[in-house]
Amino acid sequence: MEYLTIALSKGRLADLSIELFEKVGLDCSEFKNSSRKLILFDETNKVKFFLVKPADVPTYVEYGAADMGIVGKDTLMEEGRNLYEVLNLGFAACRMVLAGPKELQGRLDQLNNKRVATKYPRVAREYFQYKRKESVEVIKLNGSVELAPLVGLSEVIVDIVESGRTLKENGLVILDTIADISARLVVNRVSMKMKSDRINKIIDGLRGQLGER
Ligand code: PRP
Repeated sequence: MEYLTIALSKGRLADLSIELFEKVGLDCSEFKNSSRKLILFDETNKVKFFLVKPADVPTYVEYGAADMGIVGKDTLMEEGRNLYEVLNLGFAACRMVLAGPKELQGRLDQLNNKRVATKYPRVAREYFQYKRKESVEVIKLNGSVELAPLVGLSEVIVDIVESGRTLKENGLVILDTIADISARLVVNRVSMKMKSDRINKIIDGLRGQLGER
C-alpha cells in the first residue's frame, strides 16, 4: 500500500494535531522520541508524517508532496494556496485583528497614508483594499509586531490575538476584527480523488472526535 502523507505544523499546533490523530487510530509514537527527524512513520497504517514550518504546510499540500495537513487559518489566508480546506478542527482558536493605540478608536478614517506592520502582508493588503477601500503601506515583520506602533514604525498592526494579553500589556486595542482563526485540515486536490477512501476515513474519524468534545 502506498503511504498517505500528512504535513504537520511545527510549534503550537503540533502537539494538539498529534493528539487528534492518535484518537482516530494513527500511531504517532515516533513523535515521542525527541529527535530531529523530519519524516516520522506509522508503519501499521502506512502513514508518513512531515514536520514543517506552519507557512510551508500549504505548499507541501498544494504540490502533493503531502496528501493532507493541519495548519492555522491565518497561514491559509496568507499563503492563498490551491487546496481543499475540509475541516475546522476548532483548536488553536484566536482572531486576526487590526489593532493600534486606543486614540485611533473610531478615528481610523481620519488618518491618511497609514503604515501597517504585520506578519501577514497579504491579509493586511487585502483587508485594506477590499474592506476599507484604501491603500496603505504594509511593512512585513517576523514577530513582536506589537512593538511597531510603540516605536513609530507603523500606526497600526494586523496580527492574531489569542488572550489579548500582548495587546493590553503594550497599551494597544483591537480596532476591527478581520477573521476568526483556528486549526484546519487541508487536503491536496488530486489526493482527495485518488486516495479518497483513506482520506475520508480520517476525515470522518476526526469529525467524530470533534463532535464528542
Ligand atoms: C502571537 C501573536 C501575538 C500574540 C498574541 O505571537 O503574533 O503577538 O501571539 O497572543 P495573546 O493575545 O495571547 O497575547 P507569538 O507568540 O507567536 O510570537 P511572535 O510575536 O514572535 O510571532
